[in-house]
Amino acid sequence: MLSVKIKNLELKTPLMLASGTWGLGENLAQFLKPKDIKKNIGALVTKGISLYPCEGNPPPRISETPCGLINFIGLENPGIISFKKNYLPNLLKFGVPLIVNLHGEKIEDFIDLAEELKNESIEGIEINISCPNVEKGGIYFFLDPAAVKILVRRLRKKWDKFLSIKLSPVGPVFEIAEICQKEEADAIVIANTYPALKVLELKPLKVLKGGLSGPAIKPLTLRLVYEISKKLEIPIIGCGGIISGRDALEYLLCGAKAFQIGTANLINPRFATKIIKEINTYIPSIFHF
Ligand SMILES: Cc1cc2nc3c(=O)[nH]c(=O)nc-3n(C[C@H](O)[C@H](O)[C@H](O)COP(=O)(O)O)c2cc1C
Repeated sequence: MLSVKIKNLELKTPLMLASGTWGLGENLAQFLKPKDIKKNIGALVTKGISLYPCEGNPPPRISETPCGLINFIGLENPGIISFKKNYLPNLLKFGVPLIVNLHGEKIEDFIDLAEELKNESIEGIEINISCPNVEKGGIYFFLDPAAVKILVRRLRKKWDKFLSIKLSPVGPVFEIAEICQKEEADAIVIANTYPALKVLELKPLKVLKGGLSGPAIKPLTLRLVYEISKKLEIPIIGCGGIISGRDALEYLLCGAKAFQIGTANLINPRFATKIIKEINTYIPSIFHF
């Protein structure tokens, strides 16, 4: 009853596990039974994979804030070659559509990453544009509509499976969303984390700068989903602060076709099951079955 189709991507449920919040599958089976994974999770989105291995940032990398957390992980990942050899075979065994989130430092990186994945039996790729573009002096892709236009155009020519672009919630969000639609991406993910800062120590002043996620950001991201869905046709995957069935349903009713849960997985890796159960309890009253 909850199945959705976004272009050619068929999902058993609209729930996806968001990038970076469930590792690379190493511990998933420890918390969720294989049958619950298949039944409740529409798709798995891997953590950001880059061309070369990346160690990420030194600690502290994560810190709680009121109703959220700030992360400064720095896209730690094994790199595409090791990912294909050491992680992909196990991820495919879950029997759930797999979307690989990609991280690049220039347009060519994303093209090379797509080429590396061309013959793998994954369902699609998700492009993280919240990274600096070294070719343009480090200006973030999400602040540079012209670069995003070339990026999506080139990827679309190369990649005929599911292609989604994960937007930042800041910058010219509407313009970027419109470009993704024009350049025929299959979906946009709204959105990544918000640039934020936490004071860790007062004296001497010690701060953690990173991306804010969790329930604190839900009203902000939900507004973006609502407004963009009113203006554009491109399917939207909502992501930001979902920790309950009610939260997820709000995204769906405000224009998202599917949704991702991120920080929720860190609170409780079994939340996927709980959220789908909760959505099912709302269905008769909302949709009048
Ligand atoms: C610890 C952590 C790591 C993340 N790593 C990635 C990543 O590698 N690539 C990416 O596109 N987003 C990454 N994100 C962003 C999440 O996928 C998600 O977009 C964001 O946290 C908002 O959703 P939430 O409020 O449900 O967590 C990360 C988030 C967290 C908390």
